[in-house]
Amino acid sequence: EKGAYEHYMLKEIDEQPAVMRKLATEYFDENGNIKIEADLLKAIEASDRIYIVAAGTSYHAGLVGHELFEKLAKIPTEVHVSSEFGYNMPLLSEKPFFIYLTQSGETADSRQVLVQTNEMGYPSLTITNVPNSTLSREASYTLLLHAGPEIAVASTKAYTAQIAVEAILAKKLGEERGIEAAKDFDIHLELAKVANAMQTMVDEKHEIEELAEKNLKTTRNAFYIGRSIDYDTAIEAALKLKEVSYVQTEGFASGELKHGTIALIEEGTPVIAIITDEKTAAHTRSNVQEVIARGANVITIVSRSLSNAGDQIVLPDVHPLLTPLVSIVPAQLLAYYTSKQRGYDVDKPRNLAKSVTVE
Ligand code: F6R
Repeated sequence: EKGAYEHYMLKEIDEQPAVMRKLATEYFDENGNIKIEADLLKAIEASDRIYIVAAGTSYHAGLVGHELFEKLAKIPTEVHVSSEFGYNMPLLSEKPFFIYLTQSGETADSRQVLVQTNEMGYPSLTITNVPNSTLSREASYTLLLHAGPEIAVASTKAYTAQIAVEAILAKKLGEERGIEAAKDFDIHLELAKVANAMQTMVDEKHEIEELAEKNLKTTRNAFYIGRSIDYDTAIEAALKLKEVSYVQTEGFASGELKHGTIALIEEGTPVIAIITDEKTAAHTRSNVQEVIARGANVITIVSRSLSNAGDQIVLPDVHPLLTPLVSIVPAQLLAYYTSKQRGYDVDKPRNLAKSVTVE
């Protein structure tokens, strides 16, 4: 039930801190150890490469998963769009392990790939919000998102839950493989910090509403830019804005702007820069200066430790691998308010269905 909320999308954005806390109870025992079945861990450890296959927002959660599995578990990981992978399969490694990310567990594009990898005899895991969904039943293993029903067509809490579950799994795999980065990573504590940081952002929704009104309400187009893990967030943030507000929005790797796209920047074009990655922050800052010089209206979404006076949205600091869980929240809110201010049906954008059961 929506309760006091005007739309499910805002309710589901607001629920994200609670979903993080729920995952911190579902996936840990009383001693703080991660609860994931040993057979699943063994199956992944016996493989030489993880292939993440997904569509839309779930694909974007996979892009962040790629960082997590490679950095925490040191397992080579590829991420693929299911509607492409199924018909043009790349050369696979000798012992692939497939992870299907799907909120609904019913996406036909992803299922057709699972049917093929099952025929090839490869082990698989479905990470889904829906127990007993088709992809859950047909994969070797399932991990649940525990996000509660997601009703709004635009995925919000399932996206952050997918990243959190990937982080828990990557931590566990890395720990078992003796990887330093995983041993030092207290995921239980870090998820608690993420929940608090998300809450801070949710509590600032009225400032974000004003930024939407000022920068996005009447624009024809918009850009999100970022590098590294912030580029992953930029693409998801762009999808959120375009699907609910119909503003043509693209997410770009900041460094790519000058290779062509910067030609689109005019007086008043909104450019939203995400800056949470320490290594690339200075580079993205200089890209921000380049677009300002061409007249862009810039909104910066920046981790506190990297922030300057003049940044519009400042995020509480969390572990560097988990910043996408926090930086996406203001972007979800910008999308929500832009859609609402334009008078659209926020929860049911035109031409879209919650569960896409055709290829
Ligand atoms: C966007 C959105 C879609 C879904 C995609 C995959 O907000 O919700 O892009 O992410 O259709 O759906 P699932 O995760 O159910 O496989």
